[in-house]
Amino acid sequence: MSERRPVMAANWKMHHDHLAAIQAIQKLSYLLDVNDYDACDIVVCPPFTDIRPLQNLIEGDNIPLLLGAQNCHWEDNGAFTGEVAAPMLAKLNVSYVIVGHSERRQLFGETDEWVNKKARAVLKHGMSPIVCVGETLEERERGDTDDRVSSQTRAAFAGIKASEAERCVVAYEPIWAIGTGHNATPEDVNETVGAIRRVLKDLCGAVAMEMRIQYGGSVKPGNIAQLMAMPEIDGALVGGASLDPDDFARIVRYRG
Ligand code: 13P
Repeated sequence: MSERRPVMAANWKMHHDHLAAIQAIQKLSYLLDVNDYDACDIVVCPPFTDIRPLQNLIEGDNIPLLLGAQNCHWEDNGAFTGEVAAPMLAKLNVSYVIVGHSERRQLFGETDEWVNKKARAVLKHGMSPIVCVGETLEERERGDTDDRVSSQTRAAFAGIKASEAERCVVAYEPIWAIGTGHNATPEDVNETVGAIRRVLKDLCGAVAMEMRIQYGGSVKPGNIAQLMAMPEIDGALVGGASLDPDDFARIVRYRG
């Protein structure tokens, strides 16, 4: 098990309008207690339209959940129809922003260069990026997993200082494991996360040992404990199972 503080993040993707979001967070906050918040950072990344109502709920009721966003633009403002800027998120007390999720890379053409610009914008506005990396099934079958995640990590962290890198989280999400019910074995994940950490060490030095690296891809209440038992894995980025407050609370409470 890692000695770093785990970060358990819910990526709701394009689910839950703001009313459903409020209900889900009320239920989640009822299920979690002070020991859970003491043990890890618990982050919820809802769609943009939910962020303001959830900020009101969380701050009004003193719920120690952290807010995250699923994406942002790298410019502070401008003629970018449909985009949301990092300072807009910072204004809503968003703490984390997911950048370079594989769905954005695959479905919306997000490049390594954009991921880097977004990560830097998030840092510039005092938030922490959750930088997603991961290989396709073909890359894995060709034995290219480490090369793929290494090059994504190098590109994402280009020009980021060690003092800033410390705040960053990396999410290793093998694409073939997302939403499929198939996940990598904890040992395989541990090995790949170790490879990512070696790249971070090369880029940022000793600070890499403090950085949290999560696993994402079909994380469920039934497999989280085995994943978290691995020394390199510092948390999870949870999609489908995070939509159900009971399941997400069980994942957060993986220690039993
Ligand atoms: P699932 O947990 O639904 O596989 O999604 C993982 C993911 O993409 C989290 O960002």
